[in-house]
Amino acid sequence: MKQGETGSVAQRIEALRREIDQHNYHYYVEDSPLISDAQYDKLMSELQALEEAHPDLITPDSPTQRVGAGPLQAFRSVRHAVVMRSLNNAFESEDVGAFDRRNTEALSAAGLLPQHGQVEYMAELKFDGLAVSLRYENGLLVQAATRGDGQTGEDITANVRTVRSVPLRLRGDNVPEVLEVRGEMLMTRHDFERLNEQQLQRREKVFVNPRNAAAGSLRQLDPRITATRPLRFFAYGWGEIRVRGADGQVDLFQQEAGDADMPRDTHSGMLDWLAAFGLPVSNQRRLVRGLDGLLGYYEEVGRLRAQLPFEIDGVVYKVDSLTAQDVLGYVARAPRYAIAHKFPAQEETTVLLDIDVQVGRTGALTPVARLKPVFVGGVTVTNATLHNEDEIRRKDIHIGDTVVVRRAGDVIPEVVAVIPELRPQNARSFQMPENCPVCGSAVERLEDEAAARCTGGLFCPAQRKQSLTHAAGRKALDIEGLGEKLVDQLVDSGRVKSIADLFTLTVLELSGYERMGRKSAENLLQAIDKARRPELGRLLFALGIRHVGETTARDLAQHFGSLQALMEADEDALLAVRDVGPVVAGSVRRFFDEPHNREVVRALQEAGVEPVQETVAQGGALPLAGKTLVLTGTLPNWTRDEATRHIMAAGGKVSGSVSRKTAYVVAGEEAGSKLERAKSLGVTILDEEGLKALLAQK
Ligand code: IVH
Repeated sequence: MKQGETGSVAQRIEALRREIDQHNYHYYVEDSPLISDAQYDKLMSELQALEEAHPDLITPDSPTQRVGAGPLQAFRSVRHAVVMRSLNNAFESEDVGAFDRRNTEALSAAGLLPQHGQVEYMAELKFDGLAVSLRYENGLLVQAATRGDGQTGEDITANVRTVRSVPLRLRGDNVPEVLEVRGEMLMTRHDFERLNEQQLQRREKVFVNPRNAAAGSLRQLDPRITATRPLRFFAYGWGEIRVRGADGQVDLFQQEAGDADMPRDTHSGMLDWLAAFGLPVSNQRRLVRGLDGLLGYYEEVGRLRAQLPFEIDGVVYKVDSLTAQDVLGYVARAPRYAIAHKFPAQEETTVLLDIDVQVGRTGALTPVARLKPVFVGGVTVTNATLHNEDEIRRKDIHIGDTVVVRRAGDVIPEVVAVIPELRPQNARSFQMPENCPVCGSAVERLEDEAAARCTGGLFCPAQRKQSLTHAAGRKALDIEGLGEKLVDQLVDSGRVKSIADLFTLTVLELSGYERMGRKSAENLLQAIDKARRPELGRLLFALGIRHVGETTARDLAQHFGSLQALMEADEDALLAVRDVGPVVAGSVRRFFDEPHNREVVRALQEAGVEPVQETVAQGGALPLAGKTLVLTGTLPNWTRDEATRHIMAAGGKVSGSVSRKTAYVVAGEEAGSKLERAKSLGVTILDEEGLKALLAQK
């Protein structure tokens, strides 16, 4: 760079900063990045290089300056200019009804009720993170603080500067002289899981939930660590505001100041105003009226909750008019004009009474926590999975501990952590049994596996029961009416030891079991009879060979064409099957080497079970060999599963998306965007008849 070019360097630096800020905004605030991560990194590197060469041009709001100096000794305290209040909670809709009634009465008396007679509210998500206050002076971020006790918090400026959704400089020209923004710092579930994986790999502390991870990350004395933590920020309120007017400082609500056309006499207007400065405000806010509006929002968000990328613990309702807010005022530390309507908690504490061990289909032993009943995630939970022995060690779980139990949506409840302070004297540690608790066989744990296993195989009633339930499943032999309860009885009575025994049952004996009427016995027997001619792939899947899922089973069936051929195949022959690697090949070989399993196959044949022959895939001999098809819409006769099977039997593959490589798109009724895409790419489109014609080709 020649002398005299510093001016243009300064311009380039400024342009880069503006461009990077712009991309940060699109990425973190608008959630729609305009460029790839690599392109972004390139801009950052260029800026860094220029700043390194011209250190005098570095400013504190440069995107390179998010991570500042080294670690702090301690956090300084910060006195909030305007106290940070908290919210009262509502748990039932009656509480919300009372809240709305009080507001309606008070505002009606004050003559502040709108024409339509209902109070207007801003309804927002209640983010489950940490409250922080960000102070901007003349558009620059100068201080960030935790809530603390509401009066005084801790100075976490260096840490908050590393959070990329927090602008270091507000956008726009009309920035207020002072703007204290309040909002929530949080971590998305996805980022939380990734962080925990990393922590595990580095043998560092894992976090209980995203909120703890966010809190731990913000309370780091070393901002360089915080910088590696994926924190997000959402603004939902404000503290001190000073706006510059023509005649010096003016009132917050004076419309001439700032962006004059932005109404600032309502909470919703204020949020729009904050958003216009480039501050992230959640789009999932809504202006509603009256109790019905509030409860409607609550229900809708409740349904959305599991799909949100971050955790929320409820919704917040705020009277929208700021004048009305003033009239309603405060009680103690919480406003009367706002309330948090909480969802049932997804985490609760309870006592771990004992640990049982369950045996799964493949013999895996799963420790299960027996809990003092606790209401969590909307149901009473008495059991929770502990996954495996290592998890118990890692979380340092003892019998007798007070534990944190989590149940989110329909997910199986789990013990996420213990509260070590509450451990009683007589707490016991857990030992994986050396013998299977169901059949007494030895328990082994292979070096590269997390699970300990019962070595009893199908001798073990627990494994037997679950293998039978698996074999009867929809994707296997599809035997309707063979539920868990009946399987328990059939195994416990000693009548059924393997799937082969199912095919020798009679109506007379089935009718003898509990809750088995003659009619259901007949229906079940019919279903069993139908299963005598399964497709080979389904039968293979039903056998429950380890590592052989539905798709692999189908691939093996197609490749070998008969059970006999598969049973005789050596590992090399197995490795020749598409998508089959050493793990699957080894597992299949071991399965059929096991005399007990060969005996089951023999018994099946004896009971008249004979898989329908599949066409053997041999390169180009099949009509759809090497072709990829896409199914869209509803076909008149075939279900998607059926069509898929026919295509695969003809050597074809079925894919979920249309590309130039797609050979045919098979479209049924209400075909959507895939059909459109096929048309635009010029891919041949078929209906069911067309597909059948193709399949019939030789
Ligand atoms: S308003 C004067 N809005 O909930 C009311 N709070 O106990 C100030 N929170 O500490 C809070 N989402 O951390 C408000 N949309 C939202 C919120 C929210 C989460 C948290 C906040 C506060 C606590 C209230």
